[in-house]
Amino acid sequence: MPLVNAKEMLTKAKAGHYAVGQFNINNLEWTKAILLTAEELKSPVILGVSEGAGKYMCGYKTIVGMVNGMLEELNITVPVALHLDHGSYEGAKKCIEAGFSSIMFDGSHYPIEENFEKTKELVGICEELGLSIEAEVGSIGGEEDGVVGMGECADPDECKMIADLGVTMLAAGIGNIHGVYPANWPGLSFETLDAIQAKTGSMPLVLHGGTGIPDDMIRKAISLGVSKINVNTECQLVFAEATRAYIEAGKDKQGKGFDPRKLLAPGTEAIKAKVKEKMEIFGSVGKA
Ligand code: 13P
Repeated sequence: MPLVNAKEMLTKAKAGHYAVGQFNINNLEWTKAILLTAEELKSPVILGVSEGAGKYMCGYKTIVGMVNGMLEELNITVPVALHLDHGSYEGAKKCIEAGFSSIMFDGSHYPIEENFEKTKELVGICEELGLSIEAEVGSIGGEEDGVVGMGECADPDECKMIADLGVTMLAAGIGNIHGVYPANWPGLSFETLDAIQAKTGSMPLVLHGGTGIPDDMIRKAISLGVSKINVNTECQLVFAEATRAYIEAGKDKQGKGFDPRKLLAPGTEAIKAKVKEKMEIFGSVGKA
């Protein structure tokens, strides 16, 4: 199946009280692992690409080519959206041009009026081209590609203002943080989430910083309107751990010599297992 935008999968997730996982991709191995797992579990999936990962993978056009090629060569039948993660205004336009099926415009660091105006323009472009668009209100904590947010809670009225522009999905800060949560993290603000959901109605809400949020908090967030959950760091951690174990066991020196395909295989398997674990918790298995 060719790439789809994320609208239908998220509308179904919101109505069915589960969440679709956005798993960030950083190379060919991660992409293949995520697609194969989604297909095996019959789960819809969103491939997230940060601007930094976009540069690393030789630009957005290369990524579109790689993903489209894999959808065909791997006979992927489940819905897959290719989504820009935390896009700048310029990055969003480049991804639209390159053939992404979905974009995020993160205008949360602008004054709300500027976030509103820029989001509005991009909503118009996405509507015309049949793409989905995610907007953000209230910055997410931690660091993502050098952008540091303080993990503030979004203002529900500002969320409504941006939701009413016709975005497909809305990321709203509720105390979530990118990366590993510090020991003194107070947890998600369900009061804020509840208030945002009350103001935005059927709008699918997005939870960033999916790494390390306890399962019971994930389930509660889904019950309060979260329909998309982003995971990146947890995949990085298991990939690094599996690769390190392979090298420490001296396996990279066995046989005919160094083979990058063998070196990256344990990490790729670890990503498959992590994606499966997350899809089960999010409830998206069998929902394709
Ligand atoms: P983590 O790296 O904390 O899993 O967050 C991923 C994310 O939110 C990408 O936008």
